[in-house]
Formats: sequence, structure tokens, C-alpha cells
Amino acid sequence: MLKINLCGVDFKNPVFLASGIMGETGSALKRIAKGGAGAVTTKSIGLKPNPGHRNPTIVEVEGGFLNAMGLPNPGVDEYLEEIKKVKDDLDWMNVGVIGSIYGKDEEEFAEVAKKMEKYVDIIELNISCPHAKGYGATIGQNPELSYSVCKAVKKAVKVPVFAKLTPNVTDIVEIAQAVVDAGVDGLVAINTVRGMAIDIKAKKPILANKFGGLSGRAIKPIGIKVVWDLYENFDVPIIGVGGIMTGEDAIEYMMAGASAVQIGSGVYYRGYDIFKKVCDEIISFLKEEDLTLEEIIGIAHE
Ligand code: SIN
Repeated sequence: MLKINLCGVDFKNPVFLASGIMGETGSALKRIAKGGAGAVTTKSIGLKPNPGHRNPTIVEVEGGFLNAMGLPNPGVDEYLEEIKKVKDDLDWMNVGVIGSIYGKDEEEFAEVAKKMEKYVDIIELNISCPHAKGYGATIGQNPELSYSVCKAVKKAVKVPVFAKLTPNVTDIVEIAQAVVDAGVDGLVAINTVRGMAIDIKAKKPILANKFGGLSGRAIKPIGIKVVWDLYENFDVPIIGVGGIMTGEDAIEYMMAGASAVQIGSGVYYRGYDIFKKVCDEIISFLKEEDLTLEEIIGIAHE
């Protein structure tokens, strides 16, 4: 009932793990797969090992979490060893892998993408991390840079390429237009929203990086509006992400135009099996309303 096909790739359900949560190791990805996810998205991986920002890198705030991890990862060569350890198990469980990658420019993105391609079903371009200077949103807030990165990756690999967009821009449609013109197969929206928290006793920002990206319940209406705008303007599949805790949240994203959703902070609130819970809640809704999954995608625009 929940099977979907995105750009020629079949998934058993449309409820995926978002990048950055539990994606550091192969065994963590496997744990999420066991929790019922249709696909798991890796931590954003770069060409070389990166220790990320100093601690504290994450703090719980009203409505979610603020994080500024700084894209920590072991580098693509070592990370691929992690994926290789669990790839057979993930295939056996029929769980897809989305490889999230980042780089400082088009050459670096293309090189990482080529190395990842063999082990993943979709490549997700992180051009949206709000707090890693020279990376992420530095690219994704600039239509020309976004275009050249997406174009280079599209040229380098055969698997579908999705661009993950930042909401921290004046006009998301302008950026999306650039990446769609570059030939991306789909869009992922949204990455975290820039924010800050101050420790009033210490009289300074809590995060070592001073500011970070807000995820969780508080950003769901922002994500819904971005997905709505993307669906109105583009004819490529959209993966919705931002504040999804329940089947009802996922359905809201789908009605705005998302073909699939990703869950990040929700794992903290509802456990590793949030994916199965959300799928069951979507199925109950579809039965109650006598609708199919396909019928609800973008239905709110009619
Ligand atoms: C991080 O690792 O810093 C988070 C990644 C992101 O926000 O894209």
C-alpha cells in the first residue's frame, strides 16, 4: 500500500531516515532499517576526514534541537567501508540507501559522488548545511554555485541526484530553478533553519559555533510552505523533511507535494521504530479516507 518509485528506484515505503541522525556507522543505519524505514540517508560525507565543530554541538530547545556539528565524518573512503559491512543486510531488508555528500566546490562534489555511486540508490547533495563556512549553504544560497555543483555531479554519476535545499534564503524558487536547470532528478526540502540559544548564566551562546540549525516540530510549517512552493513550480519529485513526528505530519507534507518524507529529530522523540509507527499511521489514514498514497500527493493544491 505504501510502495513508491522515485526516479526509477523502488522503495517499500516513503518514510526515510534524514541525513545527520544515526547515519555515522553502518550498524546505526541497520538499526534504523530494522525500525521500518524505506530508505536510510547517510551522514553528509566529504572527500577527507573532518572532525567537525568543537562541543557543545547540539542543544535541545523549545520545539526541537539546535545543532552545529560542522559536518563531522571519516571521509568517503573510510565511510564506504561502513556501508559495505551492512549493504547486503539492507538489500535483504529491502531498504534503500541515500548517500548524502558535501564538498567545497564542483570538483570535490563530483569526486565524492563517483566514489559513493556504486553503494547508494540516490545521491543527495548537501548544499544547505547552515553552519559550515565554505560548504553547504554557502553554495546553496547562491544560484550560480548551486547550478555548477549540481551540473558537475549529474555529469559524473548515473544514479538519481537530489539537491537538499536550505530554507535560509529569500527566494527558494530561484535556487530550486538553478538546480533543476542543472538537471537534478529531485529536491529535498528543508535543511535546518538558522538559530541561536544563549546561556544566560554564562552570558554567551550555548553552541561552540555560536549559532546552528534548528530542526524538530518548530520548523514543520516552514518545511510545508517550501514543499508547497516547490510543487507549484517544478515537475520533479520532492522529499519533504522538517519536524515530522507522526503519520499526520507526513501526510501534511505529502498533501503539500512531497512524494516521500525524511525523519530526523523524530527518532529522539518516538524511538528507532518511528518509521514503522509513521507508516502504520499513514495506512490508517488512507483506509479511513479511502484514498491511495498516490492520490494524496499534492492533493491540497487541487
Ligand atoms: C552537520 O553535520 O553540521 C549538520 C549537517 C547539516 O545541517 O546539513
